[in-house]
Amino acid sequence: MNKIRAIFFSPTGNTAHVVRHVAERLSIKLGIPVETLDLTLPEQREEVQNLGPEDLAVVGTPTYAGRVPNKILPELQRLLKGQDTRAIGIVTFGNRAYDSSLAELLEVLEANGFEPVAGGAMVCSHVFSEEIAPTRPDVGDWAQADAWADAVARRLTDREAEAQRPVFLQALSAARIPVGPYYTPLGTDGLPARFLKAKPVTDLELCVRCGMCVHVCPMGSIPSEDPSTTTGICIKCQACIQLCPHMARHFKDPAFVSHVRMLEENYTRPARAEFFL
Ligand SMILES: Cc1cc2nc3c(=O)[nH]c(=O)nc-3n(C[C@H](O)[C@H](O)[C@H](O)COP(=O)(O)O)c2cc1C
Ligand code: SF4
Ligand code: SF4
Repeated sequence: MNKIRAIFFSPTGNTAHVVRHVAERLSIKLGIPVETLDLTLPEQREEVQNLGPEDLAVVGTPTYAGRVPNKILPELQRLLKGQDTRAIGIVTFGNRAYDSSLAELLEVLEANGFEPVAGGAMVCSHVFSEEIAPTRPDVGDWAQADAWADAVARRLTDREAEAQRPVFLQALSAARIPVGPYYTPLGTDGLPARFLKAKPVTDLELCVRCGMCVHVCPMGSIPSEDPSTTTGICIKCQACIQLCPHMARHFKDPAFVSHVRMLEENYTRPARAEFFL
């Protein structure tokens, strides 16, 4: 191997942070450089990426409804082509659960010519609420990720090191569970919260039409002619909302708001990050 390819989809930056961190750690341990490939924006998802046996891919996505984001899955299938390329899959999740997202990511990579050698699920702040895991990943999470990255590097360079795996590591096969259905978001009443079609609204008194939000939407759904609108598909990623310097955009869809409240009521307990190899 002579290069690490750090590849991610990351609308609000959590996944980018984790993938870059792990890639840098591996880079130091393996003594090879990192090249970054950000697939977040539509213009970054045009070229097919061919990776070879000399590459080590570290590929990350957030968990959306317990799976790989459904609008991004076909993009990963289309864009990432491996050729006996060893790959490490990483998902982030917002303290509820990662369900099948890691298994699905590893499955997609394998189907595209990669050889999954490790997988990790990192707890991060939930983009829907500042009250859910705002300080994750914490020191303990990073220490766990570092120990795992070090073990992966040892495994890649020394086959006998497998016998010395730290005890908290489980076999990678434990991550390869059958991919289940999408998680159904619930509202505070315990019933399914249907907000598939919800889009952010813009407070016209706050919006100064600066157009910054146009350039962060991973779906290219905010038109530059009128950035106070959302004309295309919205995956609820929250990138435009977090970025707006005037806090002009927000979701007011009642089902969405109810789901966020339900998460705040039930998912502030610390979830565990999990790493496999
Ligand atoms: C549409 C959507 C669905 C989500 N579904 C889940 C989920 O099922 N479980 C969970 O724990 N977090 C969920 N999250 C939270 C994100 O996985 C988490 O905040 C992630 O780190 C965001 O990554 P990013 O900063 O790279 O965009 C969801 C977020 C969004 C936007
Ligand atoms: S970033 Fe905020 S202020 Fe600027 S155009 Fe978008 S909504 Fe308006
Ligand atoms: S419009 Fe929707 S998809 Fe686009 S950045 Fe905003 S929340 Fe994300």
